[in-house]
Formats: sequence, C-alpha cells, structure tokens
Amino acid sequence: MSSVAPVVNAEYMAEIDKARRDLRALIASKSCAPIMLRLAWHDAGTYDKKTNTGGPNGSIRFPEEHSHAANAGLKVAIDLLEPIKQKHPKITYADLYQLAGVVAVEVTGGPTIDFVPGRRDSSVCPEEGRLPDAKQGAAHLRDVFYRMGLSDKDIVALSGGHTLGKARPDRSGFDGAWTKDPLKFDNSYFVELLKGETDGLLKLPTDKVLVEDPVFRRTRTPSSGTMRSRTKSSPSSASSLLALLLWRTNRPEAT
Ligand code: HEM
Repeated sequence: MSSVAPVVNAEYMAEIDKARRDLRALIASKSCAPIMLRLAWHDAGTYDKKTNTGGPNGSIRFPEEHSHAANAGLKVAIDLLEPIKQKHPKITYADLYQLAGVVAVEVTGGPTIDFVPGRRDSSVCPEEGRLPDAKQGAAHLRDVFYRMGLSDKDIVALSGGHTLGKARPDRSGFDGAWTKDPLKFDNSYFVELLKGETDGLLKLPTDKVLVEDPVFRRTRTPSSGTMRSRTKSSPSSASSLLALLLWRTNRPEAT
C-alpha cells in the first residue's frame, strides 16, 4: 500500500505549532506524558534498517498493530490523540505521535527537541515481535536495536526513557515505577539502576542487563554519566542525548 509524504510548508508548520500547544494542554491535564513517550517509541521502534520497513509511520494506530502484546495499553494514548488529529487533519499520524513524544519529554523537564516533520503514514503493520521483550537479556536487546541501526551506546541512553512512567500488571505483567518521580524527566533512572535493588522501584530484566553486561556497563553517555559514576550526571545532560537518539530512530524517511 502506498503512502504519501505530507507537504511540509509554512501552513503545515503552523499546524504543528498549534498541535504542539494542544498536546501541552492535553498532557498537562491528563498527566499522560509517560504513555505518550511510550507510544512514540513503539511506533518508531519497529524500524528495520535493512528492509526500511516499520518505524515511525503511524501504523500503530491500527488494531492489527496496537493489539500486539508489547503494545498493551497504548490504545489509551492513541485515543487521547485522535481529537488532536481531527482538529489538525493535515498533520500525519506519524508526525503527531512523534510530536507527542517530543512534547512529553519537554513538559516533564527534558530538553527542547528540534522536531523535524514530514513523516508519511503507512497502513502496513509490521509483524509482531519487533519490539524488545523485557524478560530477555543483552543479546536480545542488541538484536532489536542493531536491527534499527542503533548501537550499544544508544541502547543505554534510550533505556533512560524509563525515567518516566510505570509498568502495570494488567498491561505488561510488571508492576511499579523506575524512579521516585515518574513524571519528571531526569537522570534518576540511571542513578537508581546503579544503586542495585531499591525498595519499591522497578528494574526489568532488560534494565538490569545494562549494569550486568560489561560493555553496556562501561558505556558512557551524557544521560548515564559513566555507568560507574553517579555524581557526574546532571539532569540537563541527562536528556539531551536521549532526545538525540530518539530522533535517530524517528527518521522521517522510514516508511
Ligand atoms: C530497552 C528495551 C525496552 C523494554 C524491554 C521496555 C519495556 C517496557 C515495559 C515492560 C513497560 C511497562 C508497560 C506497562 O506495563 O504499561 C515499559 C514502559 C515504558 N517505557 Fe519501555 N521498554 C524499553 C525501552 C524504552 C525506550 C527506548 C523508551 C523511550 C525512550 C521507553 C519508554 C517507556 C515509558 C515512558 C514507559 C512508561 C509508560 C507508562 O507509564 O504508561 N521504553 N517499557
């Protein structure tokens, strides 16, 4: 099925600005930044570099895709965004979902992300199984992120997205938040990870491997400081690389 790229002109940019304002209001009123970031990531995270399939193309809006086990709960975010799509019909779903992720990071204290619009919508859903499975280990994480064209460093930095939100037993089977303030975007995910077991906070098997795997552990990113040093990381550096890397998976040319 073919997809048409939106014409990104002054009019489109003006709609993006208006949608950005609507997204800020929605996210503030519903405190739904975490699920918006997860939606953006799950639309993008099916990308396969070799075949140039999947990726941020809005295909997660279809039941065929949002019913995949890894997407449990994301219909909530899709439904919350539909009125904004109706209000700004020119904006593609693909752009709207990524913009929602960008705004979610911004309003929770993360960096301002340079949003480049122009993603085309696709009605072709990728097969189930492209997103990471939290119960698996380092080899699986590498399989999934290398398929997207990302690196070990990207895996560590992007995992910092778990500074926001929480897991719910009725969605993923896991329970709890990664940090003490799940509505604040900072480097506390890494701080808590390096503490080891912390009372009441969640660590997925795929979070734990970031300190267990020797290469991941040595990985130095602005968001994690060094994985060994807790003191050097700062909230401002925390977010910038994460934002950059999120953008890399959000490449507009992906169909
Ligand atoms: C590294 C592999 C990853 C795995 C295995 C993973 C797995 C999970 C799981 C199991 C949940 C709980 C879902 C629920 O119960 O509702 C979750 C939530 C979340 N994930 Fe990830 N994730 C990964 C990477 C990422 C990345 C790269 C980002 C963004 C940059 C991200 C952002 C989030 C957010 C914001 C939530 C909270 C959603 C909410 O509170 O509703 N995750 N993830």
